[in-house]
Amino acid sequence: MTHLPPMTTRSTTYIGVPTSRVDGRVKVTGTAKYAAEYNLAGLAHGFVITSAIARGRIRRIDASDALAVDGVIDVITHETRPKLASSDDKYHDDVAPPGVPYRPLYDDKIRWSGQPVALVVAEDLETARYAASFVQIEYQRDEHVTDVDAERERAYVPPKERGGMGPAEDAGDAAQAFADAEVKVEAEYRTPIEHHNPMETHATTAVWEGDGQITVFDKTQGVKNSQQYVANVFGYRPDKVHVMAPYVGGAFGLALRPGYQLVLAVMATRALKRSVRVALTRQQMFTLSYRPSTIQKLALGARHDGTLTSWRHETVAITSRHEDYQDNVVNWSRQLYACPASALDYKLVKLDLATPCDMRAPGGTTGLYAIECAMDELAYAVGIDPLELRLKNYSDKDQSENKPYTSKELRACYRHGAERFGWSRRSHAPRSMREGRELVGWGMATGIWEAMQMKAGAKVALGMNGDLEIASAFADIGPGTYTMATQIAADMLGVPIYNVTTKLSDSTFPQAPVEGGSWTTASLGCAVREACQGIRRELLRLAQEMDGSPLADCGLDDVAFADGRIRAKDDPARAVAVADVMRAGGAERITQEATAEPSEDESHAKFTHSAIFAEVRVDEELGLIRVTRVVNAVAAGRIINPKTAASQVMGGVVGGIGMALLEETFVDHALGRPMNHNLAEYHVPANADVHDIDVIFVEEKDDLINPLGVKGVGEIGIVGTAAAIANAVFHATGKRVRDLPITIDKVLGA
Ligand code: MOS
Repeated sequence: MTHLPPMTTRSTTYIGVPTSRVDGRVKVTGTAKYAAEYNLAGLAHGFVITSAIARGRIRRIDASDALAVDGVIDVITHETRPKLASSDDKYHDDVAPPGVPYRPLYDDKIRWSGQPVALVVAEDLETARYAASFVQIEYQRDEHVTDVDAERERAYVPPKERGGMGPAEDAGDAAQAFADAEVKVEAEYRTPIEHHNPMETHATTAVWEGDGQITVFDKTQGVKNSQQYVANVFGYRPDKVHVMAPYVGGAFGLALRPGYQLVLAVMATRALKRSVRVALTRQQMFTLSYRPSTIQKLALGARHDGTLTSWRHETVAITSRHEDYQDNVVNWSRQLYACPASALDYKLVKLDLATPCDMRAPGGTTGLYAIECAMDELAYAVGIDPLELRLKNYSDKDQSENKPYTSKELRACYRHGAERFGWSRRSHAPRSMREGRELVGWGMATGIWEAMQMKAGAKVALGMNGDLEIASAFADIGPGTYTMATQIAADMLGVPIYNVTTKLSDSTFPQAPVEGGSWTTASLGCAVREACQGIRRELLRLAQEMDGSPLADCGLDDVAFADGRIRAKDDPARAVAVADVMRAGGAERITQEATAEPSEDESHAKFTHSAIFAEVRVDEELGLIRVTRVVNAVAAGRIINPKTAASQVMGGVVGGIGMALLEETFVDHALGRPMNHNLAEYHVPANADVHDIDVIFVEEKDDLINPLGVKGVGEIGIVGTAAAIANAVFHATGKRVRDLPITIDKVLGA
């Protein structure tokens, strides 16, 4: 595990210092409340009934037996539901893909197995669940298809509008270059449907506030997204919809779009004029959304010395019938590897399933798995060390847009990662590092993710007693957003972090997008910084108005804010206490609200990079694979909190171990629904599956990316990890398994 220096307790320098979560205590003591934990007077409980078929119509719903159960209040179906918006636009949330968004309980149409078809509301959850078993539903069943191989011929290029990506651009003549190549590697890789499996299941507690307004506690990564969506769907004025999600028990992308439970809870609350909670079961979490499966064909052409001459990457991914969900699987090689000719192709296949959604590093995770395995295959085809092959083809510019990077310390990632791992002691040949009855394998891969910033706001208020309060609508789904914002403000204004209260994820707070895309630290961090700059400016102005001010001739850049004081940088003796400044100026509280936006400068490409090294030990007779060591070296600009950032990368690596060896959703194509819809049969890494994970942040100074110089680390940890493990399995066994997860049967099989 990562070794970190102890947290500092006295200094008021926090940026870059490993800092424990400021919300840690409320979380570990159970005081932090989640969406399904708000117990209101008169709260009713909804239980969702989901569709038993994958495609067709509801012919008849008979709820009379359920309604006769003691304690049942109502059964809401498409026939009995209250009025909902009728245009598609109203259901289009902030992060919806192109297509026709699904409308819960809107009509009799069944689009996937597990779609909600009724909500039973009762005085308590057990009664609602029991009564649900008496609701009789007759379906008209239509033929469904959930098998990608059955539909592969009908793959189409997705539309570009509304966040769609459209076809990728080609460079040079990749087909000709491949035909002419001295060395060729061609392979097809597969990644399965995966489910996010956050600890907290989706839930909404809707509070009846009378007509015309509503309050909801929602499981969401974006309270503003839920707020606007509820306003649109039910016809509220947006400011009359109050959404809060102060704590979120993990999400990984699953709560970026409003969940159907949000609509059902609000619908029931309006119908019954009383507060209602709708919480999904773990099984129902498997029919909400998922990471789409992919089939990826890679064709690499190179010279004998390993220099790339041609790159082709074709992907077929799955989506629903009604929406064209897309993620960026193929557009990464031109950032990573210099190659004169490349052709990137991304297509979708429509299936009778729920619409997929973003899951931790969407597209990058699946794409880099295939890209980095193909590079490993090329390394063996030309007989060059895999790390050396990557250095040989290193690209110092983003070839897709012919731009330099704001920063790219990927070479340092390779160097530091390799050193820490001991890569130089590796013997190249597969099956050459046996230890006892175990085959030892060392593999590596590269990771890359976009370094994004979104427009976001924050409000910061400084009180005369030194208390500092921060507010923003941004969520903290677990990465340490509360702590990051706290550190930045404390640092900027020279107050101890214990004086700071950060409030997040409330729709009445300053505007913020969903927490996702690894953009929160850059986006919220810069907004907090801006607001604190405003407070500094105001404090200095007031300080200079004081009689005989020692700072009279100082500009904002000439002073430091530390230990509750403002002092001249060049003469610490010239200082005034912030409390005195505020008292003198009659300012009990100084409040500043700021909005930070990404720079308009498009001249540089912005990416986060990593190098992952993995050791596996494979029991040759049993086929058991253990990932005994992972070193992940990350270049992500300035790291605000090395402790929570390392946790993010470590968590990403654990996700990568799951992806490589365990995670896979099996769809029963006859029924058209996930079979292993529980945590007993959908395997995720548990403690015994996770051994040493060593996270390194390499030095990366970036003055161009944003004023804080940060890039974000929420997703980079998972990208490339599965490839490093898959490559290690090849190195250990000599067996190239090209469909994830790498299970015992595939390792032992012919
Ligand atoms: Mo992330 S997949 O943007 O929550």
